[in-house]
Amino acid sequence: MFYVTRRETFSAAHRLFNPKFSDEENEKIYGKCSNPNWHGHNYTLEIVVAGDINPETGYVIDLKVLKQIIIDNIIKKVDHKNLNVETDFMIGKIPTAENIAVAIWEQLVNKIPRGKLYSVKIYETENNYFEFKGD
Ligand code: NI
Repeated sequence: MFYVTRRETFSAAHRLFNPKFSDEENEKIYGKCSNPNWHGHNYTLEIVVAGDINPETGYVIDLKVLKQIIIDNIIKKVDHKNLNVETDFMIGKIPTAENIAVAIWEQLVNKIPRGKLYSVKIYETENNYFEFKGD
């Protein structure tokens, strides 16, 4: 089994808050990420596809194709956007890196033309990353 990774980066704004909680509780749970006037992160996204080698091409998956799928379905919807209010697949969700990873998995899982989606990894800072394997 091979694991092929495509990395993309994007910049996005967000605010972490749960409307069920008071401003004080949100501040306590989310700290600076709950700033009512938004803030941003430079995210790195790694999409891993697992599969065998296609003997006709020598590829597991054509990375040009995978790149375009990620750009069309994810990057165009998140890069330089406000995740809370502009990104269709994040509206109504608390945009933690965990929830972003799950939502990206759901966007991509049925669009991989060869092999299967193995994991979605998202780096919110250099020191924090989150990895989701949907099945
Ligand atoms: Ni934040």
